[in-house]
Amino acid sequence: MESFLPFHKADLGDEEIAGVVDVLRSGWLTTGPKVKEFEQEFAAMVGTQHAVAVNSCTAALHLALEAAGLREGDEVLVPTMTFAATAEVVTYFKARPVLIDCTQDTLNLDIDRIEQAITDKTKAIIPAHFAGQPCDMDQIQSIARARGLHVIEDAAHALPARYKGKMVGSIADSTCFSFYATKSITTGEGGMVTTNNADWAARIRMMSLHGLSRDAWNRYSAEGSWYYEILSPGFKYNLTDIAAALGLAQLKKCDQFWKTRERYANFYHEGFRDLPEIMCPEAVPHVQHAWHLYVIQLDLDRLRITRNEFIRQLQQAGIGCSVHFIPLHLHPYYRNVWGYRPDDLPVSNMVFQRTLSLPLYSKMTETDIDRAIQTVRNLVLENRR
Ligand SMILES: Cc1ncc(COP(=O)(O)O)c(C=O)c1O
Repeated sequence: MESFLPFHKADLGDEEIAGVVDVLRSGWLTTGPKVKEFEQEFAAMVGTQHAVAVNSCTAALHLALEAAGLREGDEVLVPTMTFAATAEVVTYFKARPVLIDCTQDTLNLDIDRIEQAITDKTKAIIPAHFAGQPCDMDQIQSIARARGLHVIEDAAHALPARYKGKMVGSIADSTCFSFYATKSITTGEGGMVTTNNADWAARIRMMSLHGLSRDAWNRYSAEGSWYYEILSPGFKYNLTDIAAALGLAQLKKCDQFWKTRERYANFYHEGFRDLPEIMCPEAVPHVQHAWHLYVIQLDLDRLRITRNEFIRQLQQAGIGCSVHFIPLHLHPYYRNVWGYRPDDLPVSNMVFQRTLSLPLYSKMTETDIDRAIQTVRNLVLENRR
């Protein structure tokens, strides 16, 4: 029996270990020079003026909405086909997350459904770039501009991604990235907000550390001063220098990781090309897909087994897989508190029955990818109608 191929494994080398050890030896563990350097390198890479490091993408989204001035009773448009974090941050303000259906091809939010969801309470849109495929930002920005809405991107999957030549992270009012353990680069837990708005960057930075006028590095370093003031009741969302050291080493390899994932995504496309039972994800024109996830859709009418059974048999054959996502409107909280029913967002509802995510990461070998392809192919051939 071959060993189990996990759904994800982080790609860490000696550089990451050396970077972390340096920080441990330095005696300064929390937010300090390494975080500053990570922010600068990240801002340079995505081509934005400001980058503020925080301890998760969830924190990044929360602070971006806070800087945008979200208030109780406001509404924010959010895709239903996303992770919990994208919408939960809206509820932190006692505001309302208004869920938008997806399109079947990209699984990104359906832009044709935005206008009808806007009310006089709508303050912002949070497009999430599903699996690393950028949403149509020109269309979203143009609706937002006409209606006076903020656009805050959930780019947890979208590093490194491009839209019409521009890096995701340099396009919207602000963009939030994740460095969670399974993401394209990782700091264990971590996140980043990018923006070209200097006032927002300053507000996000201040609110990420209790709303203090100075951070600890500015108080305890040789040129620092002990004095600080509380300017606003903030949060404890700062990233540590230990995590930033990991991030700096990972950032240098980000493009190389991406090239490997893109190559493997192409292996999957080729491997399934002749199977009408499988719909493969495709990059739309004018984008660089980050290929964080490889999400296929099964044509259940052509198969004798359900998606759940398909996953069970894949796992049994040693291939780890997952489902992205259970649409938000199907979860008890959104049903009970906001009154959503499955058919309210019919495309996501239908797609959810058919999707599964296959392993896609740079630590995989070509043999691993071949094995995943062959196992999926065999399952399809065995269970064809
Ligand atoms: C689309 C999306 N947004 C936000 C997040 C939250 O990221 P973090 O765990 O860094 O808070 C995730 C995490 O999986 C995600 O998939």
